[in-house]
Amino acid sequence: MQPKKPFLKVLNNQTENHIPCWFMRQAGRYLPEYRALREEAGGFLNMVYNPENASEITLQPIRRFKMDAAILFSDILVVPQALGQKLEFLAGEGPKLNKVSNEKDLKILDVKNIDNILSPVYETIKLTRQKLTDEGFDQTALIGFAGSPWTVATYMVEGGGSKTYENVKSWAYGNPETFQKLIDILVSSTTHYLIKQIEAGVEAIQLFDSWSGVLDEDNFNKWVIVPTAQIVANVREKYPNIPIIGFPRGAGTMSKNYAEKTGITVIGLDFTMPLDWARDNLQNIMPVQGNLDPVTLLTGGEALKTAAIHILDSLSDKPFVFNLGHGVIKETPPEHVEQLVNIIRNYKK
Ligand code: CP3
Repeated sequence: MQPKKPFLKVLNNQTENHIPCWFMRQAGRYLPEYRALREEAGGFLNMVYNPENASEITLQPIRRFKMDAAILFSDILVVPQALGQKLEFLAGEGPKLNKVSNEKDLKILDVKNIDNILSPVYETIKLTRQKLTDEGFDQTALIGFAGSPWTVATYMVEGGGSKTYENVKSWAYGNPETFQKLIDILVSSTTHYLIKQIEAGVEAIQLFDSWSGVLDEDNFNKWVIVPTAQIVANVREKYPNIPIIGFPRGAGTMSKNYAEKTGITVIGLDFTMPLDWARDNLQNIMPVQGNLDPVTLLTGGEALKTAAIHILDSLSDKPFVFNLGHGVIKETPPEHVEQLVNIIRNYKK
């Protein structure tokens, strides 16, 4: 069956007059209605695990800006939490996890019972699909997601964000056999989590590999391409037609190998990716998604218009989804998001 929603048509390799758009982190702190609900809920994870709150937040940007896709409100770090790692989001500090440093620490991770923690996420998906229908957003697709094993492992081993990735890289480079065990746990839990999201109603999936750009070529192949390919193959075994967007942030020219070897449907581009190179080396293989610098969106005005038009001129001849090259920055005025959606909607070559 051919998809009807514009976003899904493009993922299915069809060119659309209507260029679909959505923006990474489109639900979040730049929206006053998000901040109000977070205040009321008493923190980020209280919203993530409350289907009523999480579905409201998923819909907030759609009600304002009518993007072509809504993205499930959750986080990539719910998987380590469901595996048994302690996770906290301290206000203004980002995520904190108790570190997993070696093979012995892997014992705390339990792949079998992750749905005990994750089942509210599946409820959120059902509820969000229902609300999209009830509110007349019948052209809006719902995207599910997970972090890719490498990126999730960086948070698990570093205990949060990092500048140098010394701990996780030392483990991966120095003791690849035991690091592989951590990656294998993430491949199987992520596969399970994505299949459950599809069963609950997501219509496409994005794999976020935010830190794929910190590895050399051999390690990129080993820890980014191979595990991603395994997840894609596992999910496709059950759902052969589910569109999967891969977002290997910072991968540069290694993106081509990633696009060819992982089995993904669409490749997400970060904002450092040259548009001509992406058109000639990636968009000839598959649809692309990207890649406006979020600071351009923060800036607004002529700078926003010029950069958005340049992207549209470069990539709109073949299947293309407009997005940012990373997430919306929390200081972004909502009016700038409205300006950007208008530029995309009114674009004619
Ligand atoms: O709107 C959406 O895009 C959907 C929801 C979503 C969130 N996180 C909500 C969130 C998605 C898809 C993510 C993915 C995610 N989470 C990634 C991959 C994308 C990327 O940004 O590179 C990563 C690395 C994380 C881990 C994470 N979550 C960090 C490092 C932080 C702290 C930094 C920050 O921006 O606050 C979070 C918190 C987080 N995840 C917030 C939101 C809305 C902010 C929470 C708050 O303070 O209200």
